[in-house]
Amino acid sequence: MFRHFVDLFDLTPQTAADLLDQAIALKRDDREGRRPAYLAGRTLGLVFEKPSLRTRVSFEAAIAQLGGQAIFLPGKDVGLGVRESVADFARVISQYVDALAIRTFAQETVDELARYATIPVINALSDAAHPCQAMADLLTVRETFGALEGLKLVFVGDGNNVARSLALACALFQVEFVLACPAAYDFPEEFKTRFHESFPNIHLNVEHDANLAVRNADVLYTDVWASMGQEHEAEERRGVFAPYQVNEALLGQARPEAIFLHCLPAHRGEEVTDQVLDCERSMVIPQAANRLHFQKALLLWLLQDRVVETTPRLVTTPKLRTQA
Ligand code: CP
Ligand code: NVA
Repeated sequence: MFRHFVDLFDLTPQTAADLLDQAIALKRDDREGRRPAYLAGRTLGLVFEKPSLRTRVSFEAAIAQLGGQAIFLPGKDVGLGVRESVADFARVISQYVDALAIRTFAQETVDELARYATIPVINALSDAAHPCQAMADLLTVRETFGALEGLKLVFVGDGNNVARSLALACALFQVEFVLACPAAYDFPEEFKTRFHESFPNIHLNVEHDANLAVRNADVLYTDVWASMGQEHEAEERRGVFAPYQVNEALLGQARPEAIFLHCLPAHRGEEVTDQVLDCERSMVIPQAANRLHFQKALLLWLLQDRVVETTPRLVTTPKLRTQA
């Protein structure tokens, strides 16, 4: 039997914790020059209907570092639901690759793929969720503070895919989560209902005053005001979200040891200023790095029955023999 990773609603706190432990172990191995080829000969398909730097490259690097190989499929070539049905694509691609990551628009497309595929399906971002991002982000927070429980993370901006997955990841790790957003950009009701069904004892905090929201925050997080597919709304959103910019004044309201996170890419001067993005409390580069380590752990978990016995592959550069 195989698993999917399409939304954090499906994850248990124990599995979430195990994934972060595994990511930390793999990262340590890598730092110490070990890259065991646990997934030698395995292949990961990547279907992307939206642009990407971090997600695509970190998945390609992740499977390569584990001894396997990625096959990139541009969305327009695949033509999901246009050239052929999602179900036909899912059944066929399952014959060729061992796992499939998809970046698309509607969450229903990811769910439909998962329904018909006979291999693990990974959500590499949909309009509703970005679970790989949120889990990797909690890895960054855990590395920074040593533990997660009891911390406070405030997401300032749109109640979008990243915000929703972060709210779920925080619930899994008992991190207090607050969404600071304009009233019209709150989480959709359907998400709130499902959240409360999954976590009946956790209040989903939504605050419209950003200054109030960030008080006592350990982590300040933001994302673009207009996500991929919403470019036509960018102008209108710039006006509505202006009071929610993460700048030095807002960061100053959080705890003195608070860190700043952003999934990137950032629109400098809009949702975040250069001063915050480039300051020493900004962890955005180690945060981006952790996408790789988390996704290696994720691939191992999803493909655990396909792991091959292996001896560690050293990644240290062999010394070149200098001429006498
Ligand atoms: N954060 C993130 O998912 O970046 P990309 O869109 O570049 O993959
Ligand atoms: N919310 C953004 C995240 C990009 C990584 C988007 O969907 O475009």
